[in-house]
Amino acid sequence: MIRWGIIGCGRIAHRFMQGLQDVPDTKLAASWSRRAETVNTFVEQYGGKACSSVDELLASDIDAVYIATLPDSHAEYSIAALNAGKHVLCEKPAGINLNDLDKILTVAKSTGLLFMEGMKPPFFPLYRRLKEYVLTDPIGDIGYVRAGSAVADCPPGHPNYSHELVGGSIMGIGIYEAYLAVEWLGATKQVQTLGRFGETGIDMFAIFQSEHEKGYAQLYCGFDLHGKGDALICGTLGHITIHKNWWNPAKATISYLDGRTVELDEPFTAGGLNYETRHFCDLINSGATESPIISHEISRQMIAMLDSARAGIGLKFKGE
Ligand SMILES: NC(=O)c1ccc[n+]([C@@H]2O[C@H](COP(=O)([O-])OP(=O)(O)OC[C@H]3O[C@@H](n4cnc5c(N)ncnc54)[C@H](OP(=O)(O)O)[C@@H]3O)[C@@H](O)[C@H]2O)c1
Repeated sequence: MIRWGIIGCGRIAHRFMQGLQDVPDTKLAASWSRRAETVNTFVEQYGGKACSSVDELLASDIDAVYIATLPDSHAEYSIAALNAGKHVLCEKPAGINLNDLDKILTVAKSTGLLFMEGMKPPFFPLYRRLKEYVLTDPIGDIGYVRAGSAVADCPPGHPNYSHELVGGSIMGIGIYEAYLAVEWLGATKQVQTLGRFGETGIDMFAIFQSEHEKGYAQLYCGFDLHGKGDALICGTLGHITIHKNWWNPAKATISYLDGRTVELDEPFTAGGLNYETRHFCDLINSGATESPIISHEISRQMIAMLDSARAGIGLKFKGE
């Protein structure tokens, strides 16, 4: 039985709980959020202990901590949880920048505990099936990725708009696109970015194109256009379309140069975070300190790519 503690009981923490109910041999043991009313409401709904401080949570009888606060505090709480002897699953982006992430990874290595950034798409059944499928019926050498997502329905006051809380479309959404690019194309060599800023000082819309070890990516993210999108992955023998919303993947079409078309259809259940959480629990049970899918190096490559994307439009956060 893996006993979880949660730090930050907002929107994604509720979705995490929807998923956790689908993962065997786990339970929520303790939660803490900055405001007592948030944690009390959460605990009324899901059970476990309501803690009145992060120290109380970390001193609780828990094995793992899910960090679901906003990006400005991910590194601080990840490091505190690791130092308290807990495995950590931290929401994306795990650090504000590569330097911030590296501080977490140093502590993870020295404590010998499991640390993984929450990056859900690769754990969805469709994505796993797609990866297996193209091993046996390949699309050749992959050299181009195009993906994007823009959501125009974030309500006013949403933390995505906050510069202080490390919001903005590159950090909030672009990290999914960065994942797709580095996973299929390898480490980033250079990034070119265009973007426009909103009145709160964050990027409201950005397009970035990048050169990688194996090819090129063209990506977009934003909060002022409705552009929920699909993803395109091109190889020498064919191309894959992961249909919208590609970051919650359920359908893909593979089109081959020889005229064949293969449709993959794998619905997901329980909100979709269950697959990532199950993977994390399996890693704990096997004594692993790192995920082979969202490895520390993949996290480093994603945030390094976003660092470059932000540099291209001059977007800096506190302390940079
Ligand atoms: N994986 C996914 O599919 C997915 C989807 C959406 C978001 N996310 C990520 O999840 C994270 C949270 O996003 P969200 O949409 O859940 O935001 P949210 O609804 O604002 O929830 C964050 C919660 O954390 C608490 N909090 C914030 N700062 C804190 C701090 N310094 N110390 C303690 N508690 C703090 C707040 O609770 P109080 O009421 O106590 O202040 C708030 O309810 C972000 O990193 C985001 O990128 C992931």
